[in-house]
Amino acid sequence: MMKTLVFASNNAHKLEEIRAILGAQYEVKSLKDIGCEVDIPETGTTFRENALQKATYVKEHFGFDCFADDSGLQVEALGGEPGVYSARYAMKNGVQFEGNKDEANMDVLLGKLTNEENRKACFRTSIALIYEGETHFFDGTVEGQIIREKRGSGGFGYDPLFIPDGYDKTFAELGNEVKNGISHRAKAVEQLAKFLFVNYSS
Ligand code: IMP
Repeated sequence: MMKTLVFASNNAHKLEEIRAILGAQYEVKSLKDIGCEVDIPETGTTFRENALQKATYVKEHFGFDCFADDSGLQVEALGGEPGVYSARYAMKNGVQFEGNKDEANMDVLLGKLTNEENRKACFRTSIALIYEGETHFFDGTVEGQIIREKRGSGGFGYDPLFIPDGYDKTFAELGNEVKNGISHRAKAVEQLAKFLFVNYSS
């Protein structure tokens, strides 16, 4: 029998990716599909906390088993920043900007790293799953370096500044096909899929 799971997101790209991976055994519904119009608060200090906050909200208000994700960039020389503030790093640093938020976030990051030789960074994703009364977490990481100028036009967020270890191009230059094979998100989703198949496939 097909099982229903809610993915606490309205991001069409993420939903498509998850549906393709989980296949026919799972009906994956979006927040919109269940009539959840709220911008669910994310006030945690870790990716896991934020993911769990979103999954818990859906379980408590709508009753569905659910999973949610939270991701971001962590830069070693900045003590793990931008971290959970990745999406609003410029704002958090009091930078006023008009237009593209990703550009503003990247400019703030480059500014902070101007005189820094240590360029080590990683992207992380945490997924929280609430399933049949239990909570499980799945994490994915991709390590790399922050370069000194933006390169490439693909992807989103900090992609033009991030070169994954073992490559000489940024995520924005590598394109989605390569990125989706090695990304933090892909690794976390793979763990989730493996867990569901091993534990619950009938
Ligand atoms: P989310 O939790 O997946 O929405 O990610 C939060 C923020 O982290 C995004 O708005 C981006 O700034 C950053 N981020 C997460 N994943 C990526 C990625 O794959 N490439 C570039 N930036 C990312």
